[in-house]
Amino acid sequence: MEPVIQLKDVRKVYVMGHEKIIALNNITLTFEREKIYCLLGTSGSGKSTLLNLIAGLEKPTKGSITIANRHIEKMSENQLAKFRQANIGFVFQSYNLLPTLTALENVTLPLIFKKIPKRVRIKRAKEMLKAVGLANRAKHKPSEMSGGQQQRVSIARAFINDPSIVFADEPTGNLDTKTTAEMMELITSIARNNKQTLIIVTHDLEISKYADTIIHIQDGMVDKIYDVQKNDEVLQTKENEQAGQVLQTQDSEQTGEVLQAQDNEQTGEVLQAQDNELIGEVLRTQESEPK
Ligand SMILES: Nc1ncnc2c1ncn2[C@@H]1O[C@H](COP(=O)(O)OP(=O)(O)OP(=O)(O)O)[C@@H](O)[C@H]1O
Ligand SMILES: [Mg+2]
Repeated sequence: MEPVIQLKDVRKVYVMGHEKIIALNNITLTFEREKIYCLLGTSGSGKSTLLNLIAGLEKPTKGSITIANRHIEKMSENQLAKFRQANIGFVFQSYNLLPTLTALENVTLPLIFKKIPKRVRIKRAKEMLKAVGLANRAKHKPSEMSGGQQQRVSIARAFINDPSIVFADEPTGNLDTKTTAEMMELITSIARNNKQTLIIVTHDLEISKYADTIIHIQDGMVDKIYDVQKNDEVLQTKENEQAGQVLQTQDSEQTGEVLQAQDNEQTGEVLQAQDNELIGEVLRTQESEPK
């Protein structure tokens, strides 16, 4: 198996006034190409921080992160933006679609950066919408679709560029059980068909079962790594009893609200910056293109 992402002694410390928060504590990990991973852990364990570092959205305090042998911790913001556009797709819990654009327009966004002609963009976006079962919602704006449909649009957008790596942070956090299962089937089958590496963040043991490998994060450290095929039983018995119950009760009751607020705050800024960039670029290209 070929390694695609490698982390070596990665540490992330947030300084808040006099307090130091060690979000990640010396993480060394390898992700292999074409496999599906789940970062599993309770609220505050460091999952999103880890994902944000791998995606180059934040810099590590210490340590190195390489993707396809390129050191992303050494890249400038500009280089990172280009690197992400070329190699990485994102699916977020809150969908992050642009509210003023239709489903079709939202899906075409990543192709605009690649300077792909408009006719090709629309053709590919239509194919993607069809693949996620939304051919008949192409003209709908996000507010005119259900949560599950919006998440399908965001999945279509994440995959349209054929990125080698796709990150999904709690992709089904706002969906019911049935839609969650559908969405997990969809996202994992696209990733497998296209031979992509998929990294999913979740606190939900059920979701983690769609992965090949489960990386259990605890207190900013890698607690255990499970091979889902081989260790399924270990997970079922031990985790269900020990962690499963704790996870379910703790996460839904105690932290449910906090989580949503945190996530909105955390990603809010990145998103706004991204949105502004995106909208600006869309407008500029649209203006300069013949209809
Ligand atoms: N920007 C920040 N400034 C200060 N502390 C932060 C920041 N981001 C995260 N933390 C802290 O780092 C730790 C890990 O946070 P992280 O968001 O990675 O957790 P998580 O596992 O994704 O949790 P959740 O399941 O609630 O999303 C937490 O204790 C959190 O309070
Ligand atoms: Mg998180």
